[in-house]
Amino acid sequence: MQNLTEANLTDVVLGSHAGTRDARLKQIMSSFIRHAHAFVREVEPTEAEWFEAIKFLTAVGHKCDDKRQEFILLSDTLGVSMLVDAINHRKPAGATETTVFGPFHRDGAPQKQFGESIADGANGDPAWVSGNVLTADGKPIDGAELDVWQVDGDGLYDVQRPELKKMQMRGKFRTDAQGRFLLRTVKPVSYSIPTDGPVGAMLNATGRHSFRPAHIHMIVSAPGYQSVTTHIFVAGDPYLESDAVFAVKSSLVVDFKKHKPGTAPDGSTASSNYWTAVYDFRLIPNTSNK
Ligand code: BEZ
Ligand code: FE
Repeated sequence: MQNLTEANLTDVVLGSHAGTRDARLKQIMSSFIRHAHAFVREVEPTEAEWFEAIKFLTAVGHKCDDKRQEFILLSDTLGVSMLVDAINHRKPAGATETTVFGPFHRDGAPQKQFGESIADGANGDPAWVSGNVLTADGKPIDGAELDVWQVDGDGLYDVQRPELKKMQMRGKFRTDAQGRFLLRTVKPVSYSIPTDGPVGAMLNATGRHSFRPAHIHMIVSAPGYQSVTTHIFVAGDPYLESDAVFAVKSSLVVDFKKHKPGTAPDGSTASSNYWTAVYDFRLIPNTSNK
């Protein structure tokens, strides 16, 4: 007759998984059990506290639907998403670094021509982003795709405007034969991640803010190369040092230069002030499945 005690419970639970046929599942379950038990042994929660934890996770689940993924937001705000990203995308020096995907990408963004705008009437300061998609040793990649999305000048994604019946602030661009791209947009602004759910309550209870520094999301891909899910961040943003989802890498921070009215990068006449940013993406060959 086994006698379960505080001292032997962890080993008994681990032992009950000994017959797990899938080796990876066995490793994951064993590690999870060891860490969960170690957490409880360290924290020694009261039963009321443990029930609060269960209620919190239940609320996280209830907040999820086909448009909202509160578990991903929880993973993002605890830095777990970025740790998974870092482990899965260890890049050689010189290759463009990855960062968090976030919940606001949409499939089927419109195809755009060189220099075309993704703003399509959205509020914000006009901006042009240009650069090259290159190999790690600096050769241009012709026909690379840049799938781009960002907030408008009010800090909202199109999906956060129920009245908007079209896609806005997103589009797909291709590099030309010299590996160049040019897109017109509005300068992104810093914005709050959604706080109307349990993750917002957690940030509040732990004295954290909910802001992300201004950024433009991009997935840069080309046949034969590892695609890169990343952002470019606006230099000088006050939240660069305290991103709510821990996604800033210094190699992704870009100067946005302010210009007076005049000839814009696409050759058109800008009648108001505008911003420009230049960034080169460097891809590495797809020799693995990462
Ligand atoms: C975003 O940048 O779109 C984002 C990333 C993580 C959580 C929430 C939003
Ligand atoms: Fe974002």
